[in-house]
Amino acid sequence: MNDSAPIGVFDSGVGGLTVVREIMRQIPNEKIIYFGDTARVPYGSKSKETVTRYSRQIIRFLEKQNVKAIVVACNTASAYALDELEKVSDIPMLGVVKPGARTASDVTRNGRIGVIGTEATIGSRIYSRYIKEINPGAEVLGKACPLFVPLVEEGLLNDPVTDEIAIRYLSSLIDSGIDTLILGCTHYPLIRATVGKVMGEGVTLVNPAYETARELRELLERGHLLHQVRPELGTNQYQFFVSDAADKFIRFANSIIKYGILSAKTIHIEEY
Ligand code: DGL
Repeated sequence: MNDSAPIGVFDSGVGGLTVVREIMRQIPNEKIIYFGDTARVPYGSKSKETVTRYSRQIIRFLEKQNVKAIVVACNTASAYALDELEKVSDIPMLGVVKPGARTASDVTRNGRIGVIGTEATIGSRIYSRYIKEINPGAEVLGKACPLFVPLVEEGLLNDPVTDEIAIRYLSSLIDSGIDTLILGCTHYPLIRATVGKVMGEGVTLVNPAYETARELRELLERGHLLHQVRPELGTNQYQFFVSDAADKFIRFANSIIKYGILSAKTIHIEEY
């Protein structure tokens, strides 16, 4: 595999752009092909079988783009499908759950860690499993926050409605004595300020995107796949694909990535 090949990144929608933003920052020489499954979002309320089928289609699409590595930039797909995806593809792959679990284990002082995510991610208890592998004495408290995803997809990032829902979802965690809270859904870093305000200063928020980009860099280095020079202008360093509503995606992407995304191509993902 050529080190100038792109990295494939996918999510159920726009949330994975928080991971893309971090990859752009930490390894700026890399080309990225992003796929957001905007036609089929949310994944977080769907079954493991459905999320795995969708994810396999996306892997086939990314394989056709000759990517050198794949980042599953969706907690739900990482929780439900990553093991299966690694069996069907030879391309090195990384999810966001393990990096998030590792960071939280490093950050916590009292061993009480909260996780917020989709119903699927919280129901799978995957964060708890990985954290306990690192720190068997840790206590992990999960809370599903399903309404956060549509609020983010609607762009209600700083809005009283989001504040109100955050208070309702997070009140049980505030009283639980956690000192660390994992933003276990790639959409949630976009409402980090709201979550931080509700949880208070004593709770450290963990965004798995930072550690994911760091581990991606290591993975590329190990495979001698790190791209050494910045791609020249006009080489389409960053390309975006969606399964629906490209214009809405472009508007949203430009509001969170300061790169100037001019186009996103709609593809028929069911054909893969
Ligand atoms: N981005 C997804 C995740 O990280 C949440 C959105 C969805 O439910 O599809 O779990």
